[in-house]
Amino acid sequence: MKIPFSPPFIDEDIENEVLDSLRSGWITTGPKVRDLEILSAKLCGVEKAVCVNSWTSGAALVLKWLGIGAGDEVIVPAYTYSATALIVLHAGAKPVMVDVLDDFTINPEEIAKAITPATKAVLAVDIAGWPCDYDAIMKVIASDEVKKNFKPANKVQEMLGRPLLIADAAHSLGATYQGEPAALAADIPIYSLHAVKNVTTAEGGVICLNLPAPFSNEEVYKWMKLNSLNGQTKDAFTKTQGGGWRYDIVSDGLKINMPDVCAAIGLAQLKKYPGLLLPERERVFNHYAKFFNSKGWAVIPPSETTERKSSFHLYPLRINGITEAQRDAIIQKLADIDVATNVHFIPMPMLTLFKGLGYKIEDYPVAYKNYAHEISLPIYPQLTDEQCTYIEEQLEKAYNEVI
Ligand SMILES: Cc1ncc(COP(=O)(O)O)c(C=O)c1O
Repeated sequence: MKIPFSPPFIDEDIENEVLDSLRSGWITTGPKVRDLEILSAKLCGVEKAVCVNSWTSGAALVLKWLGIGAGDEVIVPAYTYSATALIVLHAGAKPVMVDVLDDFTINPEEIAKAITPATKAVLAVDIAGWPCDYDAIMKVIASDEVKKNFKPANKVQEMLGRPLLIADAAHSLGATYQGEPAALAADIPIYSLHAVKNVTTAEGGVICLNLPAPFSNEEVYKWMKLNSLNGQTKDAFTKTQGGGWRYDIVSDGLKINMPDVCAAIGLAQLKKYPGLLLPERERVFNHYAKFFNSKGWAVIPPSETTERKSSFHLYPLRINGITEAQRDAIIQKLADIDVATNVHFIPMPMLTLFKGLGYKIEDYPVAYKNYAHEISLPIYPQLTDEQCTYIEEQLEKAYNEVI
């Protein structure tokens, strides 16, 4: 039985929405992006959402808005996909890595230790779709002491008066925190709509605006739209509407807008996300959880408490007491029978670039432990119960053979 790791969900409704865009005579940013922004904002419970062409470019735009540059620090967890830190380097600032908790999320106590007057933002990652402890993080970054030492370098930073809390919500569309969309727990959550994500536009991202007063999320939305399209006062769609050809360039904007033909995929998926695609992911999660719960050697990933509920993006199973080499051997045994699994993530201090910059994995023991024991199992709506059972049995067999 061949089981891929994360194929996209494509049905007739999605094909029709894409065809609609292709046949409309307009395939780049236009009405489909507008509709996707409205629907994303609604799902996330925020006033405004901006669609861009990836999480990474969305984060670049947010850091540009915040005016991040040389001499600034942004706190990130050591355990994440590298985009989280690369984007800080691209902005010319320093990613300050801290260790995570056993549930994979950034450790608020480590944030408290790492924060300095140069800290301009915290990028908290909802690994696998499991929201961070946002209350604890906010308590640290909005404490009287942090506010007192905060050194604003521009108007935006002055208005905020503390580091910005950005959620790397690449995995967590649809997750909840204290009974509400988890998007409401951070200042600016950014979602990824990359091909393997819960909702996809092939490549894409959504920036949700949840800034506190006195910010106007409407004004920030306008700034982000302008600066996601060359700082141009009129987008191409508006310019094509007879007589509206004249435009101006008013800032050094990025060119990171999302095309309509991509937005069409996400729009059709998002319409069936809360009612079908998300519950189907939960079904797969619960199938695995039921099986692995009775195995003393397995650690079930966090999924639901009274405070938080996951978006079931990944199934990061951990196996007690194994070495990294034994974990790799289990993955290979599954690959040999065409069951694709994965590891999320190799902690950044283990990667060449970051080692070269002086980060050392020894400083992040929890990140290393989580990584060494972890195997991500396939989780997506198309996975049948029969396939889940097969994966569970084969994994147990591989475990018994290796251990
Ligand atoms: C945690 C995390 N952050 C950021 C990203 C980057 O997303 P994108 O590929 O949309 O730029 C990813 C992508 O996999 C991710 O897993």
